[in-house]
Amino acid sequence: MIIVHFAQIAAQDGATFLERLGNLVGALHPAIVHFPVAAITMAALALTLGWKFKRAFDDIAFFCLVVAALGAAAAVVMGWLLAPQLGYAGAFSLGTGSRSVLFLHRWGGTSLCLLIGALAAWAWVSRRRGTSSRGWKAGVFAAALLAGAVGHWGGTLTHGDLLTDALGNVFAGNEAAQDVGANPKDPDRADDDSGAVAVDFEQTIQPLLVGACLSCHGPTRQKSGYRLDGRQQAFAGGEISSSRGERAIVPGDSDASRLMWMVRAQDDDFDRDIYPMPPAADQRLTTEQLQALRAWIAAGAPWPDGLILESE
Ligand code: HEC
Repeated sequence: MIIVHFAQIAAQDGATFLERLGNLVGALHPAIVHFPVAAITMAALALTLGWKFKRAFDDIAFFCLVVAALGAAAAVVMGWLLAPQLGYAGAFSLGTGSRSVLFLHRWGGTSLCLLIGALAAWAWVSRRRGTSSRGWKAGVFAAALLAGAVGHWGGTLTHGDLLTDALGNVFAGNEAAQDVGANPKDPDRADDDSGAVAVDFEQTIQPLLVGACLSCHGPTRQKSGYRLDGRQQAFAGGEISSSRGERAIVPGDSDASRLMWMVRAQDDDFDRDIYPMPPAADQRLTTEQLQALRAWIAAGAPWPDGLILESE
């Protein structure tokens, strides 16, 4: 399934050969990334055993460290190529807000790669000169811990925060268990749809959806399997909605419409499994646009029969 998913990402219309190649390399990030993590963990393990059986395990640890450095470099390059394909902020921006999981994963992973590379170089020099190995060995343990954290943030990006949910369940009993997978809606931000005013679809909503959403949810790309150029699919939603038994747009009830939660989301909602739309922070809808969308849905989301939205 993952392969099909990435094959879809890689097959983008209108991209140059180099861009498509970059997409393919990026798509391999999830496949390659466990390799350096395992290698650095092995390095730490070998060092632990090395306390008792000295020399041989030192050699193994050094070997694993070099392998981890090469693997980490590959994984980081692939990760940077993958992010824009998943709709995250531009490859060279700092991400959307310092609290976002992507920010932690991206910069944690990049720092980890530099750390492992530096440790490998340090170990190499220290082994040749026969100087103390304490420093780089301590660094290997630190790097293995950091690898655990970076991996956790990466997993949170793809699967949601299973670990925190699971830990919460262990310690909080059944109450928290019921929360897992529940809609992370916040009653404080729930909408009151009473007194909704009519908004003209063709004048206000159509240009908004075409301008801000169609590039990722239209005929050429369907992020999350979602396209909103036709009424039926726009209302139904994509993979996220269907996996939660929800709909993207529920006419007359903006509060039950997942789309509404996503366009209003802030960067820190990322942690709660609500992904802000559009993903790039500088392209979010204005307050007026949000009000118009909400009013349109509240008024029953009128969509002219048979109308299919087209890119400009
Ligand atoms: C740059 C690409 C991009 C743009 C532009 C974009 N989205 Fe998304 N959209 C995504 C991605 C990626 C996901 C999947 C979310 C995730 O897993 O992080 C998504 C998911 C969604 C979903 C959930 C669909 C489901 O699976 O049920 C909705 C609803 C949505 N977007 C609405 C919008 C709206 C409305 C706009 C315009 C205001 C918009 N998006 C603009 C990339 C984009």
